[in-house]
Amino acid sequence: MQISFSKALLLATTSFSMITVSTANAYLSPLSFQEMYAHASKGNLSILNNAILRGMNINAVNSDGDTGICVAIRRNDHIAYQSLRNAGAHPHPPCVNNISQKQYKKFMVDHRPYEPVYTAKRSNLWWWIGGAAAVGGIAALAGGGGGGVPRAHVHVDPHLRQLRGGPAPGQGACGAVPEKLRTEAPGMKVCVVYGTERKGCTWHIAQEVLSRLPEAEVTEFFLPRDCPDSCVSCFRCFNEENRCYCSQGARRILDAMLKADVILLTSPVYALHVSGQMKTFLDHYCGMWMVHKPNGAMFGKQGVVIASAAGPVYRAALREMKDSLDFWGVARTYKLGFALMEISWDRLSPALKQKIARQAERTAAKLRRSVNGPGLKARMLFYGIRLAQKHIWKDSPDAKWWRDHGWLGKERPWE
Ligand SMILES: Cc1cc2nc3c(=O)[nH]c(=O)nc-3n(C[C@H](O)[C@H](O)[C@H](O)COP(=O)(O)O)c2cc1C
Repeated sequence: MQISFSKALLLATTSFSMITVSTANAYLSPLSFQEMYAHASKGNLSILNNAILRGMNINAVNSDGDTGICVAIRRNDHIAYQSLRNAGAHPHPPCVNNISQKQYKKFMVDHRPYEPVYTAKRSNLWWWIGGAAAVGGIAALAGGGGGGVPRAHVHVDPHLRQLRGGPAPGQGACGAVPEKLRTEAPGMKVCVVYGTERKGCTWHIAQEVLSRLPEAEVTEFFLPRDCPDSCVSCFRCFNEENRCYCSQGARRILDAMLKADVILLTSPVYALHVSGQMKTFLDHYCGMWMVHKPNGAMFGKQGVVIASAAGPVYRAALREMKDSLDFWGVARTYKLGFALMEISWDRLSPALKQKIARQAERTAAKLRRSVNGPGLKARMLFYGIRLAQKHIWKDSPDAKWWRDHGWLGKERPWE
């Protein structure tokens, strides 16, 4: 069914609240460890999420001191493992240390939690684009990221494919996860800041990206829980150092972002924009915008912004998050925005989930490439602001910051 833009907009802005709540939210008590594991093993994610809302600890341990994640690894149970991860279980609980390295590594290598997204046809298309890019020298401009990376065909567990809403075993033609790319970024660190505590659609979209970076070390923050404070307009981040003085949460998250290779920000769309808590979070870092006192470490990072809305109105939210990443100096930022026409992840159509999976795969593939300095936009911002710091604002504390770092001379915040 085709929905015209104006109707969709009307839907988005007025009637998303009328969408009824899934019956999966019926009352359930917290589950015992065995019950929790049994549901995880069957892929009953909504039952797990519901039990968590009722107080179940997804990281609870059994009499052997194993969490569900460790039991799943010991039993080579990929469905349970993925369900528990999707429900927010800690990926590296202490019990992992009691599992032999060999068993752990084998499990992780075999773990292909999501349905593959490259059909043979699409794969050929990328070869064509890659070839054209190479001929035109575009690949060189993009810093060596190749469109023509060979895509090895690897086995995908058909049951896991089914669990993720993909075709059942024996159904449909599936392409392959590019195995070569999977191993290109060992030890990548990702810092995720979720603009809501709800593990709803936006959270699931972020998991689609994260699950395609199985080697990554992920640090997660949920707003407003991890940064509940608003900016109190003390102006100290502008006048003194480029850090927030008023919010401990903002400082803790900044530390994690500075240690990360990738910063991933997410937000549901509220009243056509980012959630209030995401905006509040971003306000704490205005002092390190490039027009003031940027942090040199940002120029070597990549960013991802994810927004989901009931209707086709996610662009402003994406831009609001990307603006901050751009002005912090982040080298490249990738955008994923979706109009879901639905508020429950479980009820999204398979076609839409496939589309999300495809975009997540493309984004993950880009993230696995190494960053050879900032992209064109970040460089243009840097050089434009450098000119202003050098010639217009030359007596300001911000210009002093730039001068002290050598950026008004030959030094650059990237290699
Ligand atoms: C307070 C509030 C305001 C919202 N405002 C909009 C809106 O302006 N436009 C829209 O399309 N959806 C709006 N939505 C719907 C959400 O953006 C949409 O359901 C989103 O996918 C929720 O993400 P989540 O499942 O991660 O919480 C709003 C939802 C809430 C709770």
